[in-house]
Amino acid sequence: MSVPPAQRQANGGPGAPERVPLLAVDNLEKRFPIVKGLFSRVSGQVHAVDGVSFHIHAGETLGLVGESGCGKSTVGRTLLKLLEPTAGTIRVAGVDITALDAKAMLPYRKRLQMIYQDPYASLNPRMSAGQIVGEPLIIHGMGRQTEQRERVASLFERVGLRPELMQAFPHEFSGGQRQRIGIARALALNPELIVGDEPVSALDVSIQAQIINLLMDLQDEYKLSYLLVAHDLAVIEHISHRIAVMYLGRIVEMTDKASLFAMPLHPYSEALLSAVPIPRASARRRQRVILKGDVPSPINPPPGCHFHTRCPYAHARCRSERPALREVSPRHWAACHLHDAGPALPLALPLARPRPGAA
Ligand SMILES: Nc1ncnc2c1ncn2[C@@H]1O[C@H](COP(=O)(O)OP(=O)(O)O)[C@@H](O)[C@H]1O
Ligand SMILES: [Mg+2]
Repeated sequence: MSVPPAQRQANGGPGAPERVPLLAVDNLEKRFPIVKGLFSRVSGQVHAVDGVSFHIHAGETLGLVGESGCGKSTVGRTLLKLLEPTAGTIRVAGVDITALDAKAMLPYRKRLQMIYQDPYASLNPRMSAGQIVGEPLIIHGMGRQTEQRERVASLFERVGLRPELMQAFPHEFSGGQRQRIGIARALALNPELIVGDEPVSALDVSIQAQIINLLMDLQDEYKLSYLLVAHDLAVIEHISHRIAVMYLGRIVEMTDKASLFAMPLHPYSEALLSAVPIPRASARRRQRVILKGDVPSPINPPPGCHFHTRCPYAHARCRSERPALREVSPRHWAACHLHDAGPALPLALPLARPRPGAA
């Protein structure tokens, strides 16, 4: 049953919140053709992103987590239109940017920026740090040369780098400093939303915290919105307001951080959470859920619920019918047939595990 737009707006569904969000992604799909042989025959498709919907408000951080290969980077790159979506819509402050050509996209290129996992690979080794940070200003024709230089110096200071380092080259910096350069470059055009694709995954744990703190300070100062992608929940738990859990091209659960940690509704989220070391009383007795088997191939995803091949709770319906992402309890969406019958029940079947809060 499709929900009328007015009602969807009222209950704040994944793609249709009350206020116009800064970013709204609806049913986003991205398939990659698999090309084989001398004559480039298309022999199949990778279903990298398979109907993903979410929104992000100004000043908000959405964490997107899931195992490697589940489509997180493709979501990020497609919503910035670095890749053309196969289907779905992307709206920025209510404006549909899905079909805009390169020229019409220019203003949105300023508003939406990206930072990458490996700042070393993403920074041009032949450019000085100052040139790297200033390049977007030149590309977009922002200000005269002296103004650009001043702007770059102030960006260096803002991200915690001494302006003298503008002359240095990427190989002269540490990993954490390189990520600061990447952040300064992303900030150059005063963006509203930054997509961070595993921005701290390649860094040492102590440096990760520094970069996360920097991102949070910048968010407070500039009212920035973030979509932060990670394969490890622990990394983005602190900074995220809401978290979307992804499995094999689909969002399987989405809610605020506290609800997710207190009561995950999707068995896959439960397994992910059980792997996070949390020194909290409520999580003390959480048992580790080890998933059997590998993630299935996105070339031939399983029918029904993509997770049914590894799910300890799977039943007949899961093998044939795709579960919709549904608001199972207020502001807590899950795509799982276990909750079809009514209100959310804690998952606790095979091991009779003590549930968080039950102890
Ligand atoms: N350019 C591409 N061509 C073909 N397949 C791709 C391409 N980019 C990603 N994929 C495939 O799409 C799936 C999702 O990849 P990705 O978005 O990088 O996942 P994640 O970031 O979660 O690790 C993977 O199976 C990956 O191999
Ligand atoms: Mg990735």
